[in-house]
Amino acid sequence: CHTLQFIGRVTLITIVTTGGVFYYITQKDRHPGQQLPHDPSKKNLVVVGSGWGSTAFLKNLDTSDYNVTVISPHNFFLFTPLLPSVAVGTLATNSILQPIRYLTRHKNRKVTVIEAEAKSVDPIAKTITFADETEVQGEVSSTTIPFDYLVYAVGAQTQTFGIPGVKEHASFMKEIQDAEKFKRRFMDCVESAGFPGQSEEEINRLLHMVVVGGGPTGIEVSGELHDFLEDDLKSWYPELSSKIKITLIEALPSVLPMFSRELIDYTVSTFKESKIDILTGTMVKEIKEKSIVLQMPDKSIKEVPVGLVVWAGGNKARDVSVNLMSRLPDAQKNKRGITVDDHLRMAGTDGSIFALGDCTSSQYAPTAQVASQQGAYLARMFRQFAKRDALLEQISAARHEGKSTESLEKQFTKAENLRPFHYSHQGSLAYIGSEKAIADLEFFHHKFASGGVATFLFWRSAYLSTLFSLRNRVLVATDWLKVKLFGRDLVRD
Ligand code: FAD
Ligand code: NAI
Repeated sequence: CHTLQFIGRVTLITIVTTGGVFYYITQKDRHPGQQLPHDPSKKNLVVVGSGWGSTAFLKNLDTSDYNVTVISPHNFFLFTPLLPSVAVGTLATNSILQPIRYLTRHKNRKVTVIEAEAKSVDPIAKTITFADETEVQGEVSSTTIPFDYLVYAVGAQTQTFGIPGVKEHASFMKEIQDAEKFKRRFMDCVESAGFPGQSEEEINRLLHMVVVGGGPTGIEVSGELHDFLEDDLKSWYPELSSKIKITLIEALPSVLPMFSRELIDYTVSTFKESKIDILTGTMVKEIKEKSIVLQMPDKSIKEVPVGLVVWAGGNKARDVSVNLMSRLPDAQKNKRGITVDDHLRMAGTDGSIFALGDCTSSQYAPTAQVASQQGAYLARMFRQFAKRDALLEQISAARHEGKSTESLEKQFTKAENLRPFHYSHQGSLAYIGSEKAIADLEFFHHKFASGGVATFLFWRSAYLSTLFSLRNRVLVATDWLKVKLFGRDLVRD
């Protein structure tokens, strides 16, 4: 009896203490203190975008050295790796979003956040023009501001190759709105298939879900769709669920070219078990309202009825980036994205514009890993720039006073010596459905490939720990638990 009382007390004290610490951390986070105001003697640094590259940069930047302004059409950071989970309702929308002010309000010096879309950048005059394109606008909704430094990380848009009907009839999987639109359309197809009097042919059309693109986005969307079907739709739509068909279409001979052969084979066999059809060597030629036109491996053309098409055909440069590159035609010849040097300086500029992440064309894959490492690297560079600029001022003051500048000049030379960006690949991970994931990892220069349920647990824990904040981690973990207990939400909002 005494032992039980003792255990009870210890448990209670542990719960109260943990709760107290948790409460203290969250409350401290919720009420950021005073920030230094902008200082006219500091350089103006404009950060464009609030994605992986920009947020890694802002997280690591010492803002006391600069007057920082962030411009992005979204006032939040989106954790893209879990976007397909939002598309099928495994996670709630807000669980993978983090308002950018939750980051900027904790910085030493004030950071101005402007919800607007960059329209053009003038690399010669060093100005940026941006506009508020949201539903509600004030009297002023477009303006131009100057910058001393520009950190440009607007990401990329979905590549459609100008294929007819893609923009009009397919859903994308890049922005948070894409995931929401996909879920709405998917549930709409299922509910419409259940409408009384629907012919068998029409039911089969409405329930045919096609995913275009066998890159990681397409694979993850197919896997998540399969889970939704198996875990939830089979229970709530027993008369329709067996008719739902998922087809993945890929133009190349194989899916997931960036993964090792054994993981590609593992994914293909898992999809086979999950009854997801993979059509490789098959090119989408057109998407119509109710069908998709395919060029089959033998070059024959086939038109297949579809209810919903998800387009995950890769990346292309955003219009604002194309416009910026066109202003420096001699240095910016690569149509895929902005050309930068080893220090992420945009080629053709005087070193005041830096570009990172998916908006650049480099030897690196367009991944979050690359963008965030580039952001962190650039923040270190900016610390060095601030040091260099301060030394320059000290040298000029010393010269003015007739003092020796030798030691300062040595320090300046050291500060001028900038290390190039070095990418450290941590491996590739992807979810393939049925609580299985694949991972190509590298430990101490040794490659290691794994796939299955254990890798799925690793995938979850890796992404849970990479999430932006404690708030996101709690929300995502709670969503996973909620889905285990109650299943996914079927509401079509
Ligand atoms: P983004 O993160 O796309 O950020 C661009 C920012 O610019 C956004 O805030 C956007 O709102 C803003 N912006 C856009 N236009 C303008 C404008 N005109 N003016 C101002 N701001 C603008 N990578 C991985 O490494 N691992 C993964 O598991 C993974 N999973 C993914 C899953 C999905 C579904 C997708 C779509 C991508 C995934 N990626 C993954 C790739 C990864 O998301 C990108 O490589 C990464 O987002 C690139 O970061 P970025 O900062 O360059 O661009
Ligand atoms: P992707 O470029 O990797 O794949 C697009 C695929 O679509 C290509 O294989 C292409 O052949 C195919 N395609 C294009 N047009 C087609 C057509 N008309 N018909 C049939 N197939 C067509 O694009 P994705 O998957 O969106 O990924 C973009 C980037 O984001 C990649 O660098 C990827 O590594 C990264 N990413 C990483 C993830 C992860 O690590 N888990 C998850 C999602 C994206």
